[in-house]
Amino acid sequence: MTHRRYLPGFGNHVSTEAVPGALPIGRNSPQKVPFGLYAEQLSGTAFTAPRHENRRSWLYRLRPTAQHPAFTPYAGAPHLKSAPFDTPPSPNRMRWDPLPWPDAPIDWVDGLVTYGGNGSVAEQTGVGIHLSAATADMERAFFSADGELLIVPQEGALAIDTEMGRIHVAPLQIAVIPRGVRFRVALPDGRARGYVCENYGAAFRLPDLGPIGANGLANPRDFEVPVAWFEDRDEPCTVIQKFQGGLWQTTLDHSPFDVVAWHGNLVPYRYDLTRFNTINTVSFDHPDPSIFTVLTSPSDTPGTANCDFVIFPPRWMVAEGTFRPPWFHRNVMSEFMGLIAGAYDAKEGGGFVPGGASLHNQMNGHGPDQASYEKAVASDLKPVKIDGTMAFMFETRHVVRPSEWPTSAPTMQLDYDDVWRGFPKAVLP
Ligand SMILES: [Fe+2]
Repeated sequence: MTHRRYLPGFGNHVSTEAVPGALPIGRNSPQKVPFGLYAEQLSGTAFTAPRHENRRSWLYRLRPTAQHPAFTPYAGAPHLKSAPFDTPPSPNRMRWDPLPWPDAPIDWVDGLVTYGGNGSVAEQTGVGIHLSAATADMERAFFSADGELLIVPQEGALAIDTEMGRIHVAPLQIAVIPRGVRFRVALPDGRARGYVCENYGAAFRLPDLGPIGANGLANPRDFEVPVAWFEDRDEPCTVIQKFQGGLWQTTLDHSPFDVVAWHGNLVPYRYDLTRFNTINTVSFDHPDPSIFTVLTSPSDTPGTANCDFVIFPPRWMVAEGTFRPPWFHRNVMSEFMGLIAGAYDAKEGGGFVPGGASLHNQMNGHGPDQASYEKAVASDLKPVKIDGTMAFMFETRHVVRPSEWPTSAPTMQLDYDDVWRGFPKAVLP
């Protein structure tokens, strides 16, 4: 197997070539590109986006991407849906057991199951939230024209070949594939399950740190970008694209993974969640979970994200005189949670298991279950480490409309409300 290497950085301008001399020097599109390669700009923002927002890369490939037959409708991936959803929004809290493994061999694309989303692919706002359970390697390529894909493996590694290089991710790592970048997924462990946030809005970036300072949370140097890699293969290859919610396919007479060199700042990347520099209180009170934000997709309202990707990693709990688990709350933002490993400290009572999911929509009360509450108020509050766990949240400003499959699936826990049913009434003096 071709070796994989990675370049450091987030938002940096990266240059990489799989064949020495393939990358033009001094010009993005010289009259004659080395070796007769074709120069192609891939724009992730408008040409005129401000410099600090502007993302684009130049790809140098064996054939131009434009060289393809017409796309025709693709009938697979029956549970992959897009916003806007016509299913009614529900104020009810929802929770699901893990997505079942498919009975037949199914690759990563056909194994995507949409749980919900918001906004609109046409308006380039909101997110689509998917789970995936795959049991076969992809023999074809896929890309979403509707959004970038934040991929969160939960069980089993993913070997992701992209136009811009090869990315290997295992549980506790994430991969982000920009809008439009073609990729395929192989399963080194034979099967893989996980979560996907399809971000229709502005690309994910690191959050500002404010008074935290120049370091902390996810550090830029820990984001890894693949080096250029390509296939010189003149064999038929199907390419599937998701475009305005519809799925389309075409067949090339060559591999779409034929980028010999590239440079730019629109890149796929991976990040190891265990490198997150977790910051928490050392005095009292439970900070807002925004302190655990890994990546944010801003909206046009400052501080109000189209989507935040937030994790709940291992950490020391030392707060004094404090109810340490997440508090009861109601939130103008809507929260979709998943669990990669271990147990989440607000759900000691069970039911939220690795591979499962929950949805708490705008303004609807949630928080610790009764078991977590009783344990927390009885604790003697010695320093304690929460370990062996990694929960995460896609937190979004728009209400998440569940799609049809999850609300009729046998994995939906119809008794979820009961985790908050037994709290005794407070007793006044
Ligand atoms: Fe919450």
